[in-house]
Amino acid sequence: MSDSGKIRENLLKQARIARESAYCKYSSFAVGAALLTESGEIYTGCNIENASYSLCICAERIAFGKAVSEGHRKFRAIAIVGGSEDSETDCPPCGACRQFMAEFCNADFEIYLAEKKYLLRELLPNAFIL
Ligand code: THU
Repeated sequence: MSDSGKIRENLLKQARIARESAYCKYSSFAVGAALLTESGEIYTGCNIENASYSLCICAERIAFGKAVSEGHRKFRAIAIVGGSEDSETDCPPCGACRQFMAEFCNADFEIYLAEKKYLLRELLPNAFIL
């Protein structure tokens, strides 16, 4: 397997492990994410829901929050897996998470889903950044 194939497989594996911690009692849609920093560390996240529904936080933003709060500012790739209960479905990042990625990642940041790979520029063309 190529180096990039191994990175992808490892990120998907870590995302699936993180997904097991999802707190999703309202939607029953469990999501896991694994974020690779420029320097090679992996930070994971899961979605965390709340009885006040608008407070739900996506797995991707948890992973970014963990990494950024530990000093990381540059990222290479993220893997995202999700689905209802034990099944896995395609789980592309929501619009808010795409904008969150654009704050810290350049346009060729890689987004791995179980079966697909996208670049940030494809999922959020003409991103708003200051
Ligand atoms: N969710 C994520 O964690 N990431 C996404 O990109 C899409 C949605 C979560 C939020 C909520 O807890 C559940 O999936 C259903 O929307």
